[in-house]
Amino acid sequence: MQLVKSGGAAEFQIPDLPYPMDALEPVLSRETLEYHYGAHHLGYVEKLNGLVAGTRLEHATLEQIVRTSTGAVYNNAAQVWNHDFYWDCMAPQGGRGAPAGDLATRLTSTFGSFESFKEVFKRHAVQKFGSGWTWLVKTGDGLLVVRNTDDADTPIRTSETPLLCCDVWEHAYYIDYRNDRAKYVDAFMSIVNWKFVEGNLKP
Ligand code: FE2
Repeated sequence: MQLVKSGGAAEFQIPDLPYPMDALEPVLSRETLEYHYGAHHLGYVEKLNGLVAGTRLEHATLEQIVRTSTGAVYNNAAQVWNHDFYWDCMAPQGGRGAPAGDLATRLTSTFGSFESFKEVFKRHAVQKFGSGWTWLVKTGDGLLVVRNTDDADTPIRTSETPLLCCDVWEHAYYIDYRNDRAKYVDAFMSIVNWKFVEGNLKP
């Protein structure tokens, strides 16, 4: 999940997608992934490399940059991290069934049921005004909470641990769902990689 720097060039490189470009069809088309991963995500990586080249941040990790920077450097670094996490939140065979183990127990005790959790998550995603992200996080007190962040903002800037995220920037869904974000969120929930989410909950 961590970006790597190549040789002595000290440049971040976009990680490979965890599946082929067409693997999430028909929920997300190859065209969406080509633009979202190959243009938007890659664009954030390239902009970040340009911004940190020759600065004190040139050899910092992505997480260090997200936690300590501001302005354009922060925005691009956070978007790189968020997108990397987002791709891992989905899987071609994801969404079939429900979470298991501790995650299932915690979702039920927090939201009443898995179905109620999905409703809360969808409501947050649909009601998010403008660009941003919807998250399931574990707070510093160990509680599970659904929250939105604006623009590039990311929970790793805080003491919260991200468990699941949905990109609600329009570029995430416009090709496949036009302006119907609710339909996109429903489709997203059908391919969530619950194994990945369960793994993020582990201490
Ligand atoms: Fe995005």
